[in-house]
Amino acid sequence: TRIYVPIDSSALSLGAERVAQALQREAGQRGATIEMVRNGSRGMFWLEPLVEVETPAGRVAFGPVRPQDVAALFDAGFLTQGTDCQHPLCLGLTEELPYLKKQERLTFARVGITDPLSLDDYTTHGGYRGLRNAIAMAGADIVRAVTDSGLRGRGGAAFPTGIKWNTVLNAQAAQKYIVCNADEGDSGTFSDRMLMEGDPYCLIEGMTIAGLAVGATQGYIYVRSEYPHSVKALRAAIERARAAGYLGVDVLGSGHAFELEVRMGAGAYICGEETSLLESLEGKRGIVRFKPPLPALQGLFGKPTVINNVMTFASVPIILDKGAAFYQNYGMGRSRGTLPFQLTGNLKHGGLVEKAFGVTLRELLYDYGGGSASGRPIRAVQVGGPLGAYVPESQFDVPLDYEAYAAIQAMVGHGGLVAFDDTVDMAHMARYAMEFCAAESCGKCTPCRIGSTRGVEVIDRIVANEDRENNVVLLRSLCDTMLAGSLCALGGMAPFPVLSALNHFAEDFGTERAA
Ligand code: NAI
Ligand code: SF4
Repeated sequence: TRIYVPIDSSALSLGAERVAQALQREAGQRGATIEMVRNGSRGMFWLEPLVEVETPAGRVAFGPVRPQDVAALFDAGFLTQGTDCQHPLCLGLTEELPYLKKQERLTFARVGITDPLSLDDYTTHGGYRGLRNAIAMAGADIVRAVTDSGLRGRGGAAFPTGIKWNTVLNAQAAQKYIVCNADEGDSGTFSDRMLMEGDPYCLIEGMTIAGLAVGATQGYIYVRSEYPHSVKALRAAIERARAAGYLGVDVLGSGHAFELEVRMGAGAYICGEETSLLESLEGKRGIVRFKPPLPALQGLFGKPTVINNVMTFASVPIILDKGAAFYQNYGMGRSRGTLPFQLTGNLKHGGLVEKAFGVTLRELLYDYGGGSASGRPIRAVQVGGPLGAYVPESQFDVPLDYEAYAAIQAMVGHGGLVAFDDTVDMAHMARYAMEFCAAESCGKCTPCRIGSTRGVEVIDRIVANEDRENNVVLLRSLCDTMLAGSLCALGGMAPFPVLSALNHFAEDFGTERAA
């Protein structure tokens, strides 16, 4: 019998390794033959470690499994009984679980299903079809397909990917680079990690297609050091892809060369900003560069560089496989395709939900997230990382679409949601945003370096009711300066959570007139 036990960091942190060992040991003692596949996570973290058993009707899920549950699972015949298994941890067919069933998994189509390092599994599940199509196309046609799909940068800024690639394609240079930003630093985000650990070939294929499209022969994946399992999975996958001819001097006999290397960051949030990342990749301290020149024209080592987030590259194989129109068909307005939303914070059912743009926060929080874990009302949700606005309940029905969110001074960003119940102190959260900015500032520009520290002090004075009215005016003015005068998004966006807290939750600052 084939059984699946995730090797993803989230499952490992919840004891998946000990469960895998217990399963092997128990099977050995009982003389049962099991073939254990270490898959990626299905993204239902409250059920991890989630063990799945393959049956003719599909995979049957059991979770959350602890090592001490294993003997009873065998006693209940979990390997043979299928969905009739009477053990309380039996959840029925995995694919029928409502959390998964209602999703639109395009980028995450294979995650949790395949063996992350098996090239055979990857290709039988549609992998490398996009690259094979791309090989038969001219670079400009690949770029056009990406443009027509409507794909926008998934790191948070939502810049049209095809336009970025076109700039690099048209740049004249002997050497061009593809760089993947896998420095996933936003609070409440984990989709990059889940994909790198659950389906690393998808990222590798997307980057290879980008290389063919713009004429770049070398790629780098810059992974944060907090993701050792991702680094390991990527390095192993790159080695196997190279051995099978998917990477190297002549990719699949196409005449195109493309090589990939993984580089580890050293723990600075600012190295997720693209120009700091490039500095760091060049071996220097991670300090933001002035733009222009854009990385597309003068990026890594001064050469034209496509730099995109993991999710952006990982969205490309399916576009080249199924066509731009297929992908473009999902979504709303100018936000096309799907986004893997990451449900975290005070929620009953945290995990990954890939849906087309247009889904609302209310659907994600209640239909998927199951409401708050504490059972109290959800009061605020920070969307898009530590620089994203706090969205109040009155805005939970605004569709998650880049433009609709911008219209309410919020941002979709990388799709991370952190939910808070009604015990949250929003003045404290506003202070935290400024504190975070002060701690992570690279120090290159004054509004961010000094403004963030002054911001903490002003918020403290407001909360202590020291000349509250004037200090609220001062805080707003400081936010304006940071918004307009910062060199990069860290200082330029830190005011968003602060202003949203002031505007929507004035009572927490001890004033109803903060707005
Ligand atoms: P940006 O708007 O300055 O640039 C977006 C991208 O488009 C960049 O790669 C830029 O080089 C490129 N670009 C702009 N004009 C171009 C042109 N004409 N041709 C080719 N390329 C062009 O935004 P930035 O500063 O890169 O990113 C800010 C975003 O990062 C924020 O919106 C935030 O959501 C996100 N962010 C994400 C984090 C994460 O962990 N994923 C962490 C912190 C922030
Ligand atoms: Fe550095 Fe902050 Fe200025 Fe960005 S905004 S360049 S992090 S000092």
